[in-house]
Amino acid sequence: MDNFLSQINKKGQSLLAWLDERIGWRQVWESIFLRKIPKVGWLYTLGSATLFVAVLQLVTGMLLTLYYVPTPDHAYDTVQYITNEVTAGWLIRGIHHYGASAIIILCVLHLLRVVMSGSYKFPREITWISGVGLLMIALGFGFTGYLLPWDQRAYWATQVGTSIASTPPLIGEYVMRVLRGGQELSEVTLARFYGVHIWILPALLLTFIFVHMYLVIKHGISAPPKKED
Ligand code: HEM
Repeated sequence: MDNFLSQINKKGQSLLAWLDERIGWRQVWESIFLRKIPKVGWLYTLGSATLFVAVLQLVTGMLLTLYYVPTPDHAYDTVQYITNEVTAGWLIRGIHHYGASAIIILCVLHLLRVVMSGSYKFPREITWISGVGLLMIALGFGFTGYLLPWDQRAYWATQVGTSIASTPPLIGEYVMRVLRGGQELSEVTLARFYGVHIWILPALLLTFIFVHMYLVIKHGISAPPKKED
């Protein structure tokens, strides 16, 4: 048995070395997972917690699209079907539902930690700006996702939300029509919100996370100075 395991280990190692010569994965792996991290407190884990929930949202969201149908005829019924009939559908939907609030709360707490520790200052200004983008994206997910169950609460909340968008002078009316895909809330609004929720926002989210994490790794975590410093 030991011999067999060491054979597998050897084969695995040579496969990894073979791959490394071709794609250089080891350097990427080391700079992500084996970098030196200063000794900081729990408050510094809020960014990772936000990242974890973001991944959870992407995975549960993908699973929900397997059953959800974004039309006025089927949206409500398919959500009910997911909740009551699909195996673990209630769990997947529940995680996605509460995850949407959790990500905003964690994101804001993470932002507060960054403010408290002054980590937005040089050289991390762009990390901060990409963070603001991430917060906007998370809010966009919440706004577009809220309509998708197509029940009374979803419909009227979006009616109110899109009406608020119409209040600024000059551009307000135009923004509202772009959001609704017309003068009134309709099947076009549902299709539009769904498209933004499952294509445009995830693409933006992944791009911004990539930039944010690249910068976090490049600059390292901003540890607070020690007493003796
Ligand atoms: C989806 C949203 C976000 C994710 C997944 C995320 C992820 C992370 C992670 C994993 C870190 C490493 C340090 C830590 O965990 O605290 C970090 C650091 C940082 N984040 Fe975020 N973040 C998000 C939103 C934000 C927001 C809203 C801001 C501010 C507007 C922000 C600004 C920063 C800055 C300046 C750092 C560097 C902090 C340091 O070096 O101490 N992030 N982020």
